[in-house]
Amino acid sequence: PRTIYLTRHGESTGNVQQCIGGNAPLSEAGKVYAEALAEYIDNENISDLIVWTSQRQQTIETAAKIDAPKEQWKALNGIHAGTFEGLTYQEAAERYPEEFAARDRSKYYYRYPGGESYHDLIARLEPVIMELERAENLLVVCHQAVARCILAYFLDKDRESVPYIEVPLHTVIKLTPTAYGCMMESIPLSV
Ligand code: F6P
Repeated sequence: PRTIYLTRHGESTGNVQQCIGGNAPLSEAGKVYAEALAEYIDNENISDLIVWTSQRQQTIETAAKIDAPKEQWKALNGIHAGTFEGLTYQEAAERYPEEFAARDRSKYYYRYPGGESYHDLIARLEPVIMELERAENLLVVCHQAVARCILAYFLDKDRESVPYIEVPLHTVIKLTPTAYGCMMESIPLSV
């Protein structure tokens, strides 16, 4: 059976600063993950692997060392945080406490001003998911919120639990669809 490998990008400078949204290069640790990921994928000897990234720097850099054809999907970009893009969580909490509290109350439906909610994100990902269903062996390098939505789809999770699914950095998630559902294995890579 085919396998879908799913990973977040390596740690970015935005992750280090705890920024919301963003398009940022990899940190030193993130660069080490890009190397480790390429080596892991190489050792897996996957036939006809294709790598999908978003159009953000952090995913493109994470996939750069992998020896396989790559496709960039705008639809895989991270959740769009609208006017909150690039603020740190702390800045957002200080400047817009009501917005921040509203997100806490209803994280799945909360839509960033001028941006997206998780609910919006799931709609945006629909064409990607359709292609994912048809594709053969694939590695998807994406962002935290997007990885949560893709996992929720394959593991059949409740919508409202999606924003809380844990998807650690520097970990490869291996999904093998079966007749009944999907097998999942998490492989943390040491960086
Ligand atoms: O912190 C990394 C990140 O991918 C941000 O770019 C994004 O805004 C966030 O995670 C999504 O996670 P949450 O919905 O929990 O804020």
